[in-house]
Amino acid sequence: MILACDPAEDVTEPIDDTIVEGVEGSAAVTRVKAASPADEQYEFDEDDLAAWARPEEPSDFPEEEAAKTVGPDPTGFLKVGTIMPSSNKEVLVAMVGDMGAGSNPKSVYKLILEEKAAFAIIPGDFDYKDSPSTFEKDINAVLGDAYPLFPAIGNHDKSKWKDYQANFKKRLAKVPGAVCTGDLGVESACTYRGIHFVLSGIATTGSKAKHEEYLAKALAADASPWSLCVWHKNQTDFQAGDKPSDIGWKAFQHCQKDGSIVVMAHEHSYARTKTLTDIGSKDHGATGLPDLLEVGPGSTFSVVTGLGGKSIRGWEEKLHKSDTWWGTLYASDYWRKNGVEMKKPSSDQGVLFIRFNVGNDPSAAEGYFKSVDGDMIDEFDIVRK
Ligand SMILES: [Fe+2]
Repeated sequence: MILACDPAEDVTEPIDDTIVEGVEGSAAVTRVKAASPADEQYEFDEDDLAAWARPEEPSDFPEEEAAKTVGPDPTGFLKVGTIMPSSNKEVLVAMVGDMGAGSNPKSVYKLILEEKAAFAIIPGDFDYKDSPSTFEKDINAVLGDAYPLFPAIGNHDKSKWKDYQANFKKRLAKVPGAVCTGDLGVESACTYRGIHFVLSGIATTGSKAKHEEYLAKALAADASPWSLCVWHKNQTDFQAGDKPSDIGWKAFQHCQKDGSIVVMAHEHSYARTKTLTDIGSKDHGATGLPDLLEVGPGSTFSVVTGLGGKSIRGWEEKLHKSDTWWGTLYASDYWRKNGVEMKKPSSDQGVLFIRFNVGNDPSAAEGYFKSVDGDMIDEFDIVRK
């Protein structure tokens, strides 16, 4: 695990050249230290090297792909594929935020375990008690302390963020192949199992303009097939409730340009758009079938996945009655699945799962939002152009 933001005391041996070679199973792997700004120094310790020799993952990364290397990236960001070559193998990713504490989030962690997700991304708002130990205890009781979890900071995580962040770093240090640069969960880019994701604190902490700039650079520097933009807050248009437009459109437009899927929380319901090709315009360029999404340069979609256990909120019909961009919505009093209104089940918690590289096809993915009671709230396919 590389964390560019680890404090100095965690570092046993800073690297000072541009390329470090390691061994992953039988495959030679080259890690590249980008010629980066001072605050983006890569750090490295002996445990990282040892991780490459562990048996868990080498089969995901064929030798011929691992042998591909390039030089330092002049933008200062990691070139994905130079550290961990992307794999065409299927990988299931869980995404859910707004967790809370106790039995509700535990049922969500149980679902993640049962679905056998390779890892989970939590777009903010952990336990709502400012209690990093409570959050860890609930997760560890179900998923264990080495399960790969990647966070983005939420507004309810700010006062104890340093402790939350330290726990996430400790956890990810146990995960071979997890690579993050930047300030984890605030201004960071990660790759794991061939998936790239930017974890941003935009509109929650720090300068919005700086976040936008980081996002644009991190996305432009990434060459992996699948990419996600992850942050906590949202826009009124892109959620089922009445949360304000905190983010602005620029960050979304960077993600659309890159074909990166936008994943958020903050509003406690589930809301997934159709394909969007002109985010910020009157209809956001919504196009195509509600259950068939297209991502690639200039097109993406967004999801709010905020049913991690804290609560479930209602559908604000007055605010959203003329919206034309929805695929599926699920709130306390409303369910529309791929454009068709449904009789709502009683489930209040659930998780968005996306299976990338379906059938080992690097241009195919499928998503579903499953409740903890087993209801398939949403199902859709994704094609990468
Ligand atoms: Fe929030």
